[in-house]
Amino acid sequence: MHNRWTLVTTWFLLSATGQAVAGGGPPSSDTTLLEDGEKIYQQYCASCHGIEGEGMPNWERQNAQGELPAPPHGPEGHTWKHSDAMLYRIVSEGWRDPWNKTERLTMPAFKEILTPAETRDVVNYLKTLWTPEQRRHQAEESEGAPFPAQSE
Ligand code: HEC
Repeated sequence: MHNRWTLVTTWFLLSATGQAVAGGGPPSSDTTLLEDGEKIYQQYCASCHGIEGEGMPNWERQNAQGELPAPPHGPEGHTWKHSDAMLYRIVSEGWRDPWNKTERLTMPAFKEILTPAETRDVVNYLKTLWTPEQRRHQAEESEGAPFPAQSE
């Protein structure tokens, strides 16, 4: 579990890399956004990706149905290799590995469930699970591929 200090520390790291939650504002309100993101994560994502973002066992191999299980979001996974634009799209539109033997979206689409702001908040929460090095890399990737323009 992440306590408030982890989130505060992460806020400063995110600001330092230019990937602060859009809009600036005082750190306290942005810490609140990360806490919102964590709540959304626990409510909608943890059942598959694990309460600590640890993913499912043997996530790198297809399961008996020929589907890739939910991966971890921490340093050992590859969530950090995707830009903000891509992460937003995966959460909003859903995703499946093209090599899965089934056609269904194993990663469900959340666009009917989460607002654009909630989608950004939960993606920003995932960043708290990465190493500073991964955060820096992902921030650079996102420079040319940011979150969609804010509609609210
Ligand atoms: C029903 C289970 C399930 C739920 C609930 C779920 N996911 Fe996923 N998610 C998956 C699976 C399975 C994959 C892997 C899809 C693939 O690559 O085949 C995945 C992949 C992802 C990826 C891509 C990771 C990578 O390494 O490329 C992200 C990001 C992600 N999920 C975020 C979320 C977020 C945020 C939530 C909550 C809002 C969520 N997921 C809820 C099952 C789930």
